[in-house]
Amino acid sequence: MEKVKRMKVKDLLKSAPGQEVLAKGWVRTKRGNKNVSFIALNDGSTINSIQIVVDTASFDENVLKKITTGACICVSGILTESLGSGQKVEIQAKEISVYGEADPASYPLQKKGHTLEFLRTIAHLRPRTNTFGAVLRIRHAMAFAIHKYFNDKGFVYLHTPLITGSDCEGAGEMFQVTTLDLNNVPHTPEGNIDYSQDFFGKQTSLTVSGQLEGELGAMALGEIYTFGPTFRAENSNTPRHLAEFWMIEPEMAFYEIEDNMELAEDFIKYLVRYALENCGEDLKFLNDMFDKELISRLESVVNTEFVRLTYTEGIRILEESGEKFEFPVSWGVDLQSEHERYLVEKHFGKPVIMTDYPKEIKAFYMKQNDDGKTVRGMDVLFPKIGEIIGGSERESSLEKLEARINELGMKRDTLEWYLDTRRFGSAPHSGFGLGFERLLLFVTGMANIRDVIPFPRTPKNAEY
Ligand code: 4AD
Ligand code: MG
Repeated sequence: MEKVKRMKVKDLLKSAPGQEVLAKGWVRTKRGNKNVSFIALNDGSTINSIQIVVDTASFDENVLKKITTGACICVSGILTESLGSGQKVEIQAKEISVYGEADPASYPLQKKGHTLEFLRTIAHLRPRTNTFGAVLRIRHAMAFAIHKYFNDKGFVYLHTPLITGSDCEGAGEMFQVTTLDLNNVPHTPEGNIDYSQDFFGKQTSLTVSGQLEGELGAMALGEIYTFGPTFRAENSNTPRHLAEFWMIEPEMAFYEIEDNMELAEDFIKYLVRYALENCGEDLKFLNDMFDKELISRLESVVNTEFVRLTYTEGIRILEESGEKFEFPVSWGVDLQSEHERYLVEKHFGKPVIMTDYPKEIKAFYMKQNDDGKTVRGMDVLFPKIGEIIGGSERESSLEKLEARINELGMKRDTLEWYLDTRRFGSAPHSGFGLGFERLLLFVTGMANIRDVIPFPRTPKNAEY
């Protein structure tokens, strides 16, 4: 007989009954009686498992005993129409071999539902649950859609460095990169740390953003995007902050802030629409299990025009709201997520793009408005999340940019290369950064950012 090729469960479930098939995967559950066993087999290709029907009399008892939740098996048999409800086809097993057993006494993912908190403590095994299978497949689909979106628009994927000598956001939240012996750090005669003896001959860190290098790309290639990991040593233990997260940063020559806002809105809607059209089964699972309004919320974002609102106007609305906030609001304060969510969820009931922030609460590179007080920053604020995108039109005047750098007392010598974009052939340009995990929080409906990345890094936690 010709050897049958292994099929994925996803394809098996769509195949016509009557054929000889081969399936491989992990046992989710096994139930039945003395005569017949039903095994739910999942291989990660879909949220659905395929049912394996085992006539126990035709199998070695010792093999059947090894088939427990979590074990990995290989099954050959006949795909048959299923009489049970819930599935169209099942496999009548002819041969089963066990690749790897999973001792029921110690395998932590037994049948019963587990809390997300517990699953975080076994992040190395949680991809085997329905929930994380769904989340990780959606994460993949979104990564693919991001590349497709920009590729279709003619943007160039630019790889910006992860190790850098500059602090893009100027917030001092950098993880240092060094090979100096921390027990015996060399010093200069003046008593400072002698970074000339360090690996790169200077002080370096993990990047907080690829934007500054992205701007170099945009001022040559026109439209670029980055999509990579970024690192922030901010000690924020919240459901929305990671120390290592992925960011998508498009940067476009000749875009003013209005063009930037339009792109941001179109981009997010494209991604949400892509998820609705391509991740239906996984979204339905998450919708039914965790968040009954997930799919309707996703649909509503696709069909809603985002509100455009200045910071000044937003502060006025918050001040007049009569709402009691944990952090009081007045013109000049940085908005907290409670403020952002009030505007989005209670006041407007739709996503908001807020612009023209006080320069004091935004980064040095943002285009300065004529009022001398505000800059052309823009944040996209989302229901349940708060800030999902941060961006701006960039200051394209060398003079104004230098003045701001000096005003802030920034280390100018680490930025000379950046200033060259304004020295030679400067142009209006804009860009933004979408936090990949914040997007995934929205799309999956998960409540904690630790549950949308396979191996989260947060303060005091860098397991695996
Ligand atoms: O607003 P941020 O700090 O902007 C920048 O880094 C700009 N350089 C982007 C640009 O204009 N090219 O960060 C951008 C986005 C935020 O809106 C948020 O979605 C996400 O990155 N983000 C985080 N996500 C998870 N954990 C954190 N600690 C995050 N900090 C920012
Ligand atoms: Mg921001």
